[in-house]
Amino acid sequence: MSSINYSETIPNNVNLGEDRTLKRALEQWQPNFLNWWDEIGPEGSTHSDVYLRTAVSVDPQGWAQFGHVKMRDYRWGIFLNPGSADRDIHFGDHKGEKAWTDVPGEHRANLRRIIVTQGDTEPASVEQQRHLGLTAPSMYDLRNLYQINVEEGRHLWAMVYLLHKHFGRDGRDEAEGLLERRSGDENNPRILGAFNEKTPDWLSFFMFTYFTDRDGKFQLAALAESAFDPLARTTKFMLTEEAHHMFVGESGISRVIQRTAQKMNELKTDDVGKLRAAGVIDLPTIQRYINFHYSVTIDLFGADESSNAATFYSSGLKGRYEEGKRVDDHVLKGQTYKVIEVKDGQLAEKEVPMLNALNEVLRDDYIRDSVAGVERWNKVLTKAGIAVQLKVPHKAFHRNIGSLSKVKVSPDGRVVSDAEWNACVNQWLPSSEDRAYVASLMGRCIEPGKFANWIAPPVMGINRQPVDYDYVRFN
Ligand SMILES: [Fe+2]
Ligand SMILES: [Fe+2]
Repeated sequence: MSSINYSETIPNNVNLGEDRTLKRALEQWQPNFLNWWDEIGPEGSTHSDVYLRTAVSVDPQGWAQFGHVKMRDYRWGIFLNPGSADRDIHFGDHKGEKAWTDVPGEHRANLRRIIVTQGDTEPASVEQQRHLGLTAPSMYDLRNLYQINVEEGRHLWAMVYLLHKHFGRDGRDEAEGLLERRSGDENNPRILGAFNEKTPDWLSFFMFTYFTDRDGKFQLAALAESAFDPLARTTKFMLTEEAHHMFVGESGISRVIQRTAQKMNELKTDDVGKLRAAGVIDLPTIQRYINFHYSVTIDLFGADESSNAATFYSSGLKGRYEEGKRVDDHVLKGQTYKVIEVKDGQLAEKEVPMLNALNEVLRDDYIRDSVAGVERWNKVLTKAGIAVQLKVPHKAFHRNIGSLSKVKVSPDGRVVSDAEWNACVNQWLPSSEDRAYVASLMGRCIEPGKFANWIAPPVMGINRQPVDYDYVRFN
């Protein structure tokens, strides 16, 4: 690894200066990236100096340097985690062989597709979140939003680096495509469904960073096992940043719940109307937001049975979450896994070859991880003496992919008729009234140390700064 020179146009730790073609390609892509950022990046942020964390090296001291910078000028320099020269492939048909430093011809199309699909989510989330700065509930929260935005931009760069470095002309075309698609655009949408949904308010934003960035964590963790070593090393470094994104979501929702619980106790009521009159977000609405974000996010793992998933695993492109910690043969031939099917109008389990069910395996790992955080939210309620508990809906609820997309299922896992679904959908998913109410709370509250009425302040600030620190300097 070379040290990073921040006066270069593209600071990097990959000896870019020695690869003139690649350097030129990235230098041509950079202005397009900046145009994209100016056009569709965080609204109204151009002149602000933001207290951002920049990764200047991959060691623990270096990856979290803080200072006020303009987001447009955010540079990081880390493209790859350091590799170990003798890394072996540890799963699939190539198990025991040396990891690949270049793309094998027969896996080129699949690897490109995997990298493009991952890369596409990064700018998509920036687009989805671009209006949120205008309604930030505090300067502290605004800073966290911006931190996530610049890091998603960096993640895009990480994927674009791989495309340019390893996929020649096709890679260059794909890198352009990543700046051309737009979240929610009818003619040229982002690749995955959840990344075309709106993130219209801060409750959605916190849900998105809790649930959907966690999908990112699991996808990246599976790619960090890849036999294609540059992909493994890039995604490993991206994971360090994903942790902060999920923290923003988890602590954000926790603070919303804390504030609601406080009002419930103060007013001695759980009446939705009274709580809304008091300007906080009632727990049934929070539950419906959970139902929505959880269900659209678990769709991202793909169909429960998938021959692509089997191919990606057996050929070594994508492993399982924490592959190295699992005690099995890491080849999985002849093994089975349970998926849910619809049989005679009911949900039933069936055993399928595990290789074909690897999307479901990853989804189930994700579900275990998500549920743990919801339990931590419930502790906030318990501590406040409130008996209500939040929970994630049944895995089959509100699914749009795989065999479950053909049935309507209630949050508690009953197959229901269209009539029952229509009668209950406003109790199960955010209604237009819920969304309008949450939207009505969104106003800009950005004086240092001030917080919107519907959310409690955090326990501590960023990087041990006080909560009322001037995290964003507006110029
Ligand atoms: Fe990301
Ligand atoms: Fe993220």
